[in-house]
Amino acid sequence: MHLSDHRVLVTGGAGYVGSACLRHFRRAGVEAWAFDDLSTGNSAAVPGGRLIVGDILDTAALTRAMRDHGVTDVLHAAALASVPESFDRPDAYWRVNLDGTRSVMAAMLSAGAGRIVFSSTAAVYRHGAARPIREDDPLDPLTPYGSSKLAAAHLIRDLAARHGLTAVELRYFNASGADPDGQHGEARAHETHAIPLLLKTADGLRPVFDIFGDGFDTPDGTCIRDYVSVIDLAEAHLRAVTRPIPGGHAVCNLGAGQGVSVRELFELAREVTGRDIAHRVSPPRPGDPAWLVADITCAGAVLDWRPTLSLRDILRSAWAWQQARPTGYAPAPAPRKRTMP
Ligand code: UFG
Repeated sequence: MHLSDHRVLVTGGAGYVGSACLRHFRRAGVEAWAFDDLSTGNSAAVPGGRLIVGDILDTAALTRAMRDHGVTDVLHAAALASVPESFDRPDAYWRVNLDGTRSVMAAMLSAGAGRIVFSSTAAVYRHGAARPIREDDPLDPLTPYGSSKLAAAHLIRDLAARHGLTAVELRYFNASGADPDGQHGEARAHETHAIPLLLKTADGLRPVFDIFGDGFDTPDGTCIRDYVSVIDLAEAHLRAVTRPIPGGHAVCNLGAGQGVSVRELFELAREVTGRDIAHRVSPPRPGDPAWLVADITCAGAVLDWRPTLSLRDILRSAWAWQQARPTGYAPAPAPRKRTMP
């Protein structure tokens, strides 16, 4: 199948990762549409005419969207995706993340779409491995977010096997950064992620950056994460949608394969922005593992993918986005009118 023969529906296509993928697919010559209820996504993140507003729990609307556009493949990125919020709203997380996935699969089977690429997460693994995590390491999510995503991944695997669909589960580590074209970046109504919060503090929009815990069992006591550029992630998704998948099923981690502590991230953010960033150490956040770094051998072997952008590149692009679009996709407040004396 040629690239131009693929027609992809991206659920959650107005969200951060979904919209980055949609934009990347179209640049590569792959037709793509976003299906999004705009509960957390931004319509401005989706190129004109490519947004279908709808709820993934509405199977009839999803089926219609797939049939109307002759969809061949689905990137299922729609989800509730905040670890802290999932402790407060577990029922909503199970409904959207698991029942929503069941609805997406039902619509694909009705509409005849043949492949699903699923946005999964490092949150499905058991905590505590102080080394790069492989896909066959133990799964034991400790958060409602992680549990609901793992159940959805298993549902996809089982239904895809039964109905002869191709399924690729991509487990993201810390997706971050912005598009160097300045048109796409992180923009959430309620931000909880380290990089945008650091840069908003550097930009004077927040008073202080909280380092969540410095007593972890890591070299400097702060949590270690694996930050991977959203632009590199989008390329991995393009390959997962368009390449042959041996055996019809694959599970791949997507990370940079490098661990960076919160303190190291903070220091690099200070260097890249050239600003002092007010900070303090606060208590650890519930559910935060000390160490999460990806072994990315599988993505290399199955997708022939490897990351190309460094953490410095990620921070530079995110800082450019923060400065150009301090209010995200929302229009900047109009300059105050000067009144004549
Ligand atoms: N952190 C701070 N201060 C902040 C925000 C974050 O110190 O204000 C720390 C966190 O404790 C963590 C690191 O910075 O150690 C990164 O935190 P993020 O919130 O940016 O990202 P998470 O690692 O919590 O989230 C990632 C993915 C999720 C996934 C989760 C699994 O974004 O999809 O890992 O734990 F579910």
